[in-house]
Amino acid sequence: MTRSLLLAVLGAASLACGGPLGTPEPTGTIPFEPERPTPGGVTRTPAYTGSDTDVLAAQRTYATGLDLHRKLVLRTCGGTNGVCHNQKEYPDLHTAGTFLAAIGAPCNVQSGNPTGVYDRCERLGDRFRFMEKEFREIEIGYFDLVRGETPKLDPKGARPDAATPGLHLYLHDPVPGAEERMWVTGTFIRSFIEGGEVRTLPFTSYQTNWWVLEDRRHLFAEVNEGQRDTVEGLAASGIVQGDQNRNGVYGARTATPVPLLNPGRPEESYLVARLRGTMKGEPIPGTRMPLANQPPSVQDMLALMCFIQGLDPKAGPWSLESSIDYENCTYSKDPKALSLAGAGASWKGRVLPILQSNCGGCHGGDNPQGGLNLLGTADEVHARLLKPSAQRPTQPLIQPGKPQESYLWLKLSGDGSVLGARMPINPLNGNAALPEDQLNDIQEWILFDAPKD
Ligand code: HEC
Repeated sequence: MTRSLLLAVLGAASLACGGPLGTPEPTGTIPFEPERPTPGGVTRTPAYTGSDTDVLAAQRTYATGLDLHRKLVLRTCGGTNGVCHNQKEYPDLHTAGTFLAAIGAPCNVQSGNPTGVYDRCERLGDRFRFMEKEFREIEIGYFDLVRGETPKLDPKGARPDAATPGLHLYLHDPVPGAEERMWVTGTFIRSFIEGGEVRTLPFTSYQTNWWVLEDRRHLFAEVNEGQRDTVEGLAASGIVQGDQNRNGVYGARTATPVPLLNPGRPEESYLVARLRGTMKGEPIPGTRMPLANQPPSVQDMLALMCFIQGLDPKAGPWSLESSIDYENCTYSKDPKALSLAGAGASWKGRVLPILQSNCGGCHGGDNPQGGLNLLGTADEVHARLLKPSAQRPTQPLIQPGKPQESYLWLKLSGDGSVLGARMPINPLNGNAALPEDQLNDIQEWILFDAPKD
């Protein structure tokens, strides 16, 4: 293109910008369009026409996804048992932006506790090879850093085992060859997507004596003097483990991964599964999450399910400002079926066994501590808990629906003033708290009106 032609084209373009109808630019005013489209396109769906009171109430409270975030999800971050404070594996849903980003996002597997990871949250692992050896990269299942310096190992003597201090790496396939110990560089490799292209890059490596153990899928790397920092850095580099929960199932290979919020498919959304404790009837690992410090009500669940169901998988990006479509939501036909009451935190199946095994030793027999006997049949103990506390006779041990007015809960949770010690007392070290999942279930049982079954 000649220079003059280029100028002519530019000239035409700038003319076009002057206004298609030749109207002069207004001076002194900023053009403003009141109904500006927001990113993701807001949609308005027709209102619910039925008469179910739960649906009507849900529609009033949670008209849009933004309401759902503000009124349900955000409440989670307050209070003494807020999931944001004590469950590392909980995804970050603090802002409307991160909640929106949870749609279609892989579920979080950054759990401190490997057994808390659900197979269908596992991603394809990083890969491994020895720089000096010719073999195909092998997917990493998981690794274990047994802290400390590796003791001097005799190459001809006893072989290291799973407890030997050093870095243990468990791979999907056996390392080819026959060598059992070699001074080589273990290299960790990851695939990145860059500019639409998949690129493979080694991102960290470690040179030491590597042992090939067992079925050649367990590798052991010695950590020698001066190598501790290197290996700690390696472990902290965020190696993606294909079998993070170490159960032999490589989730990303064997099943479709589930996103946190799965557009159009509430039954296969990890967030919903964590609230229910199950996905499609199968238990999933990890403590159930009581969103907003309390079990979600039928209306809360309905709003969440209809919100997810209303997200058209082909129509992203979505907007939280769109209305939730209760009219076409299949769950509006029978919202009560979404009730989570008794799903896990039952009296006979869960709460009573916790009390009897943790408390019965002191609160049983002829002369129970504090005048409280927690042993007996399920009905006997239940009836006793509805009576006033001995220490604070103005308060019942359990006030159905109200943990904060239940003296037994105050003694257990440590959030409220009580006489005497926090329970259970541990005579050995005074450490007095039940694990978080047990506390959650007891609290949930009280909130669901402490049913007798
Ligand atoms: C090692 C013994 C011991 C264990 C274990 C123990 N308690 Fe206690 N409990 C006591 C003693 C002693 C008291 C009275 C003194 C106090 O409150 O500190 C008491 C008092 C109580 C009271 C007050 C009773 C009332 O009627 O006011 C409650 C409630 C209670 N315990 C609940 C529990 C629960 C629930 C557990 C199990 C999770 C438990 N305790 C485990 C020793 C124990």
